[in-house]
Amino acid sequence: MNNIILIGFMGSGKSTTGIRLSYRLRRAVEDTDKLIEKKAGRSISDIFKEDGEPCFRRMETECLRELLQSKEERILATGGGLPMEKENQALLKQLGCVVYLRITPKSVYERLKDDQERPLLQCEEPLAKIRSLMEQRTLVYEEAADITVDVDGKDMEEITAEIIQKLKESGKIENIGD
Ligand code: S3P
Repeated sequence: MNNIILIGFMGSGKSTTGIRLSYRLRRAVEDTDKLIEKKAGRSISDIFKEDGEPCFRRMETECLRELLQSKEERILATGGGLPMEKENQALLKQLGCVVYLRITPKSVYERLKDDQERPLLQCEEPLAKIRSLMEQRTLVYEEAADITVDVDGKDMEEITAEIIQKLKESGKIENIGD
């Protein structure tokens, strides 16, 4: 399929980049976290608290399966842990071109140190948690990605321009009428 999917760690800017790309490419944007919250009628934090992380992970897979049923060509921002499930990796490949927004642990920490909406980071030592999660995830992100863009030290304009340039070069997405 012809979707553009953004993956990467929490705080890498998937949602905001998705919105910016949506303006530039005139395509609808969706966000798996928001779709899940809407369907469940609860926040991600409440889902984690009440039903646990495994339940949230099943919701993520269900969300991707539903998106595969739709014909619309979208930009899709995903939750940071979504590519970790084997089935999700296969679903992402079917959905379209996967763009990895790569960020360093220090930048994630700077961006999210006061955030209260990421249940995985509500702990004593968030920087250590970020580092260890990043270690577990980096290879998976890299293997899932068709395109990688480093986001540290770049503004939104630079990041979006780089993604569009690389999408064009890859030839993987049709109708990039920018
Ligand atoms: C998670 C990332 C979050 C959200 C949930 C779990 C993760 O999304 O899905 O809190 O496991 O990294 P963002 O990457 O949009 O913060």
